Amino acid sequence: MIPVILSGGSGSRLWPLSRKQFPKQFLALTGEHTLFQQTLERLAFEGMQAPVVVCNKDHRFIVQEQLGALKLATQAILLEPFGRNTAPAVAMAAMKLINEGRDELLLVLPADHVIEDQKAFQRALALATIAAESGEMVLFGVPATKPETGYGYIKTSSDSGLPEGVIRVAQFVEKPDEQRAAQFVASGDYFWNSGMFLFRASRFLEELKKHDADIYDTCLLTLERSKHDGDNIDIDEATFACCPDNSIDYAVMEKTSRACVVPLAAGWSDVGCWSSIWDVHDKDRDGNVTHGDVVVQDSHNCLIHGNGKLVSVIGLEDIVVVETKDATMIAHKDRVQDVKQLVNTLKQQG
Ligand code: GDD
Ligand code: MG
Repeated sequence: MIPVILSGGSGSRLWPLSRKQFPKQFLALTGEHTLFQQTLERLAFEGMQAPVVVCNKDHRFIVQEQLGALKLATQAILLEPFGRNTAPAVAMAAMKLINEGRDELLLVLPADHVIEDQKAFQRALALATIAAESGEMVLFGVPATKPETGYGYIKTSSDSGLPEGVIRVAQFVEKPDEQRAAQFVASGDYFWNSGMFLFRASRFLEELKKHDADIYDTCLLTLERSKHDGDNIDIDEATFACCPDNSIDYAVMEKTSRACVVPLAAGWSDVGCWSSIWDVHDKDRDGNVTHGDVVVQDSHNCLIHGNGKLVSVIGLEDIVVVETKDATMIAHKDRVQDVKQLVNTLKQQG
């Protein structure tokens, strides 16, 4: 089994700490090691080969440094000149391995998730392996508990014929609007897609060719024209520019009939926004999470992240404060999804 680590996102909802040049996967947000490093450390068990990392070429030295600090090797690093989302990233990793005659099981993992229960993760993976070996496209599902619109929603079906504990997907809806997300959660029948997948390389490429031939063809050509530099591949910019921008979820998972789900109860979080960083941390007796040089008085359930300067707060409830050298962001915990919008506005203002 070969892990494919998707590490090309920009993590804009965690601004101002997460930046384009240094996005969240490369930050130590939840412990001593960065999210990228924790993702790799999670894979230190038998049967798991060295990973393929797919990232932006601006981050090659960060990736190499963070791998080096853990003395970890990779099969290859695929360096993208720009992101075209996850479908092309996974496609090129799969194509590279198939070109080498290695039609292996691929464990696709986002580089920016937290999994608290390693044993439960391994148990789910063992079950998923049985299904993937028989040609299924496996998703890891987390019971949907609130109407999050940033997730894929999975409805399962009762007809199976799959190994016990593996459930056929009846419907996959990527990022529904709030009203549909609320209906899905109320029905109690839906899982969230965790964004981790397991399938054989050739199975994925077959499904991609069937459902999005444009991405398939462009990636094939891009890889052919890309410069191989030892184990690394410099993705050809001119060809890749013609590749449609789409996620594996929209391009393949919503359309394939070969998808199935393995439930994952492993303390999974995609730490996508500041409130989920607050969620995964231990709190003080007032429910506050603090980092750095911080003084908190009469405040509850806040996240106060200092990064150099002394940050002091009085009388706050459910507030996030993030201080960095050149920017400070203050938001209500219920509004932290809107940080993405704020970042877009800042981009437009140059
Ligand atoms: N190499 C590369 N290139 N990686 C990328 C690119 C790209 O162009 N775009 C995103 N990634 C990486 C991100 O860094 C992240 O690790 C992973 O791929 C998933 O991308 P996100 O952009 O974080 O996706 P999402 O969070 O909106 O949605 C996905 O994850 C949800 C769970 O967290 C989907 O799979 C949803 O269905 C799922 O619920
Ligand atoms: Mg994400």
